[in-house]
Amino acid sequence: MADVAAVHVAAAERQLTELEVFGREVAGCTRCRLSQGRTQVVFGVGDPHADLMFVGEAPGFHEDKQGYPFVGQAGKLLDKLLAGIGLDRGRVYVANVLKCRPPGNRDPVPDEIEACEGHLFRQIELIRPRDFATKLLSGKPAGITRVHGAEQQVTLGGSRVLLYPLYHPAAALYTPAMLKVLEADFARLPELLGRTVAEPVLAAAPQLAPIAAEPAVQLGLF
Ligand code: URA
Repeated sequence: MADVAAVHVAAAERQLTELEVFGREVAGCTRCRLSQGRTQVVFGVGDPHADLMFVGEAPGFHEDKQGYPFVGQAGKLLDKLLAGIGLDRGRVYVANVLKCRPPGNRDPVPDEIEACEGHLFRQIELIRPRDFATKLLSGKPAGITRVHGAEQQVTLGGSRVLLYPLYHPAAALYTPAMLKVLEADFARLPELLGRTVAEPVLAAAPQLAPIAAEPAVQLGLF
């Protein structure tokens, strides 16, 4: 993954950003059981001041080995989708909710999300993206089917961002109809990036605006 490596090398050659310093801290995290089975923490990669941040679920086998998010097949599709809207990894930021691989790539469980989400919130605070694209609003396929491609303003970790749920590239890899939807949702990203996020009227906004009728599966970021 030449782009990812180039971003990393460039980072090494200049003074560390606050985000990189935070990344070094997180590299030693032992907040949950996943620290015991990981090869390494997969913190995230990309432009530390990106307007657009992609957040996946958790590192898989290849991500755990290489230390970068989305380096497998799903990552290749992500790169292709980015290229389709004139972007590449050096101009966005890519991370996951969980920074360590769950064994056997199983789904993250609530206490792991709870232990790890502070890391993501801090990343968001430091990067300050305007847009935040994720498939992770709901762990239930029905949830993402309903909310994908519909942006909403939310406060995450104290930062006001436009949350734009997307299908996960891994799912789209094997389902052509889903790929079409994902491409169409991606096509709206340039327009969304041109949009500014209004200041919240009240200081204490909810972490995530709830989506009606699916409270049981709304586990914070999932
Ligand atoms: N799937 C994810 O959600 N994240 C990765 O980093 C790789 C695959």
